Amino acid sequence: MIATANPLASYRAHQTEIDDAIRRATASGWYILGPEVEAFEAEFAAYIGVKHCVGVANGTDAVRLAVQAAVPFRGAEGVTVSMSATATVAAITEAGWQPLLLDILPDEYTLDPAALEAALTAPGMFVVPVHLYGHPARMEAILRLAAERQATVIEDCAQAHGAMALGRRVGSLGAAAAFSFYPTKNLGALGDGGAVVTDSDDIAARVRLLRMYGWRTRYVSEIHGSNSRLDELQAAILRVKLRHLDADNARRMYIADTYNAAFADLPGVRLPPTGGVYHQYTIRHPKRDALRDALAALGVGASVLYPVPIHLQPAYADSPPLSLPVTEQFAKDLLCLPMYPELTAAEVDAVCTAVRQAATALE
Ligand SMILES: Cc1ncc(COP(=O)(O)O)c(C=O)c1O
Repeated sequence: MIATANPLASYRAHQTEIDDAIRRATASGWYILGPEVEAFEAEFAAYIGVKHCVGVANGTDAVRLAVQAAVPFRGAEGVTVSMSATATVAAITEAGWQPLLLDILPDEYTLDPAALEAALTAPGMFVVPVHLYGHPARMEAILRLAAERQATVIEDCAQAHGAMALGRRVGSLGAAAAFSFYPTKNLGALGDGGAVVTDSDDIAARVRLLRMYGWRTRYVSEIHGSNSRLDELQAAILRVKLRHLDADNARRMYIADTYNAAFADLPGVRLPPTGGVYHQYTIRHPKRDALRDALAALGVGASVLYPVPIHLQPAYADSPPLSLPVTEQFAKDLLCLPMYPELTAAEVDAVCTAVRQAATALE
């Protein structure tokens, strides 16, 4: 079966370098917040094009700590999308703010600026655009609306390492941004990891306090903080993976172009928007479940990220009912096909053939 993602293939592709980095970090005697984390933070900040990167334990914490550090009013409303990892919203509620979930654009799967315009009703709100599947949200409109309504923008870049918007890397456009280094991400560790990036000295300093008990000086808690640190081993591994990120993303884009050409005239299949870094390659099909089953029978894995939008998840059942028709329809017909840089030409070919065969049979 050709998998939809394959972190083991990513490790194998860079195994010698990664093993060397693991040996170096292991032999150093520093395991928490040492030279590897410091070097990775500097390298990732330079890559994104911002002044600061603060390594944290995972992407959920990265969103939470970015919100805590960047949004001065506890309890403020945070606007985001329902079509995301539950983590985006969990991070907002955990930080003590109120999530306000909006609909997405029909052809782009990201925050609908018209819905945002209607939702940003009071100063002091914040907005968390999610660059879903590696496709940048409509940042020009989002930044303009946020500036007009004095809202803070915190990008959720967990799926979009290296994507570009407005001539810059995503993560450099708002007040702060959150990244996840979960193993299957475009930049993935061999365990959990995350980072907050920002140009603001204040926000970076606050995230540094929040990630370690509120300490600036050891054993003195200046503010209420907790523990959310990126460890040295993961930082050492991420430094290797970062060197390959642009080439890996280029390969994802090449595979996406190949899929686009193979599926362009297929009945029932809607192609994804172009222009991102294809964390996922996501098509739409009116008989999605049948297509997924047919692909499985042909040896091609396909997955549904996400089958249940956040506003319909049991955990959010006590929130006022919401109707988000574009999101709800999208959850019914989206299908993510195999997408990772190490897919071989033969595997890409096999996916193209299987999708063509299965979609034609479903006509
Ligand atoms: C859009 C989005 N936000 C946040 C997260 C949370 O990241 P993590 O799993 O590292 O906590 C993820 C990853 O699952 C994600 O895809």
